[in-house]
Amino acid sequence: MFSHLLTTIILSIGFRAVTVVAQSATAYCDSTSGICYAGYTDPTLNITVGLVLPPLSTGTTPNATEFVAELIAPASYGWTGLSVGGTMADSLLFTMWPYNGEVIFGPRWTSGYVQPLPYSGPIITMLPDTMVNSTHIKASFRCQNCTTWNGGALGSGDLSGFQLIAYVASDDTPVDDPSNVASNFTEHDQMNFFGLDLSISHSTNYSTYIGTTGTSPSEPTQTEVCGLYLACWSNILTNYGQCGGTGWTGPTVCVTGTDCTEVSPPYYSQCL
Ligand code: HEM
Repeated sequence: MFSHLLTTIILSIGFRAVTVVAQSATAYCDSTSGICYAGYTDPTLNITVGLVLPPLSTGTTPNATEFVAELIAPASYGWTGLSVGGTMADSLLFTMWPYNGEVIFGPRWTSGYVQPLPYSGPIITMLPDTMVNSTHIKASFRCQNCTTWNGGALGSGDLSGFQLIAYVASDDTPVDDPSNVASNFTEHDQMNFFGLDLSISHSTNYSTYIGTTGTSPSEPTQTEVCGLYLACWSNILTNYGQCGGTGWTGPTVCVTGTDCTEVSPPYYSQCL
């Protein structure tokens, strides 16, 4: 009896290990955006992650430092996270959750197993198929300055190499303040990984996806970046931006290391 139990435990541990290793990205096209990604859909967590990179450059032209990605999850999750470096620490992370029919999405970073804070390096443009409905939430985005980050690089610097991608979720605990992209939250209770062969993730249609060829069905607009989905990281960083005060309807989130400070209350607050 005991040995049967032991065998079952060993088998199930073995099976889990095999499943984790066996998950790898395949090519698929998103039927809403028409964007074709290399990615993976988790059949248990109902999370889809896809990435597509610009064509690999040749000769002396440097490779682009950007990608387009999508993260889709059940709308019922408190929050969902994506790690393009495959780890929690020293990786480029993203968090996403719904709030009042909007998608609250932004980049994060941490050096350990502690609350990841908003991260200011990436330049993010939300693409128009970003949406939330009664069943699903989807962040679809262009990420510039995103193939290297503090402590790591996509494919360890080889854009046709291998990358472990991770996704996490808190399936029923909401974040502390869902209206705030910089909100704190508690640890994920779901986590999984897949392997991405970056050599299959480059597309000659990339410029169409980001709307630079003029024929794109999905022209990104800068307003969406600052208003609906994401705080205006670049404004806040470079301008010590206004974050509050009488009549202020703009972004209210200050980049890591600064706080929204009442400079001339109640009329004007600034990230300092
Ligand atoms: C308050 C927030 C968070 C806390 C306290 C936390 C804590 C932890 C802990 C303790 C582990 C190790 C668990 C284990 O090995 O079983 C872990 C793993 C992990 N976390 Fe988090 N986490 C948080 C947020 C996030 C976010 C936002 C992401 C991604 C967007 C993330 C991605 C990961 C990944 C990919 C792993 C597994 C790989 C690794 O160990 O590096 N975590 N986290």
